[in-house]
Amino acid sequence: MNPKAHQPDSLPAPGPGALAQSEALAAQIRAQIAAAGGWLPFDRYMEQALYAPGLGYYGGGSVKFGRRPEDGSDFVTAPELSPLFAATLARPVAQALEASGTRHVMEFGAGTGKLAAGLLNGLQALGASVDSYSIVDLSGELRERQRATIEAEAPELAARVRWLDALPTQFEGVAIGNEVLDAMPVRLFARADGNWNERGVKSEGEGFAFDDRPVTSPQDAAFLASVEQEGQLDGDYLTETHDAARAFTRTVCTMLTRGAALLIDYGFPRHEYYHAQRAGGTLMCHYRHRAHVDPFVYPGLQDITSHVEFTGIAEAGVETGADLLGYTSQARFLLNAGITEVLGEIDPTDIARYLPAANAVQKLLSEAEMGELFKVIAFSRGIDATLDAFASGDRSHTL
Ligand SMILES: C[S@@+](CC[C@H](N)C(=O)[O-])C[C@H]1O[C@@H](n2cnc3c(N)ncnc32)[C@H](O)[C@@H]1O
Repeated sequence: MNPKAHQPDSLPAPGPGALAQSEALAAQIRAQIAAAGGWLPFDRYMEQALYAPGLGYYGGGSVKFGRRPEDGSDFVTAPELSPLFAATLARPVAQALEASGTRHVMEFGAGTGKLAAGLLNGLQALGASVDSYSIVDLSGELRERQRATIEAEAPELAARVRWLDALPTQFEGVAIGNEVLDAMPVRLFARADGNWNERGVKSEGEGFAFDDRPVTSPQDAAFLASVEQEGQLDGDYLTETHDAARAFTRTVCTMLTRGAALLIDYGFPRHEYYHAQRAGGTLMCHYRHRAHVDPFVYPGLQDITSHVEFTGIAEAGVETGADLLGYTSQARFLLNAGITEVLGEIDPTDIARYLPAANAVQKLLSEAEMGELFKVIAFSRGIDATLDAFASGDRSHTL
């Protein structure tokens, strides 16, 4: 995702069907707020806005992923940008499969199925075909779209793909998730006049408004005091905490009995995340390739995300006894994994193929685009190997 900030009132209006769906979801959330006594913590609002069955952004039928607003999509992710992303990622995945002696891949939040199709093909090309490729996605609605993409782009391998309704308790193989952690609900906390409040949501007319309440949980207070001290925060400040992303990482690493888990997303280590200069937090909404900061616009029709706090993710994984295999920028990871060789396989005189591929590689690697903001963190268990993709520029020590 590559946000440029927009004012919500300049956003294109949705059609009547989409608007009716959004209004139905808003009514459902207002009923939940009323049932909870007039206030919901922000993560409960975000969970409903994104995942309410049939109505939430990922639970409903909007287009979501794509390259242009004209196709009704809201944002583009690396696997959508270029098949070279999956072809390059196949290399460290093949290396981790070999190190673990397994032939199973599991993908979380598989979007349109592009990464799955690309990884299946890429692994086969590397002589590392898998026996099974399992997809776990909170969005059941995307399943048909994933199936269609995989059947079209990896027809001979499509029979190896299966969809799971929940994470298994044990898994041996390589698990992977691109831009999944940023889609998990966050809690909001606002510091004003030296005091921390939890920023929740109340109903206001047909819509919603923020409503701050004093922090009462000693655990929250202790965490906020520690980041306040570390970041030397002394003015008004708005930020997020990531309980759901940490819990998810804990579950994934507990499930992993042998192999590796790779999570790719935008974010920072804790000391950069809770920095005095990041006083407005990282909550961001995406609608038709426009980014803005109002999560109450068109609930269920726009994506809501926040950046990932990677120190918390590392802690969650390591707490389960998993090893931290590496942490680095997307650019460093893809370069180490050989993205320039993968690009080099395209004939440069074939301008129609080569130019778009080279442009996409530039976007994936450029510091000003995805190369530096996006990171790769990986955990392993029971394998005695490092990945070439972390061979230089590993930043685990910065977490
Ligand atoms: C921003 S999209 C990324 C899609 C895709 N990986 C890509 O890169 O194009 C986030 C995806 O994560 C899924 N997701 C969120 N929480 C999840 C969870 N706990 N388990 C599995 N999938 C989850 C969402 O349903 C959604 O499909």
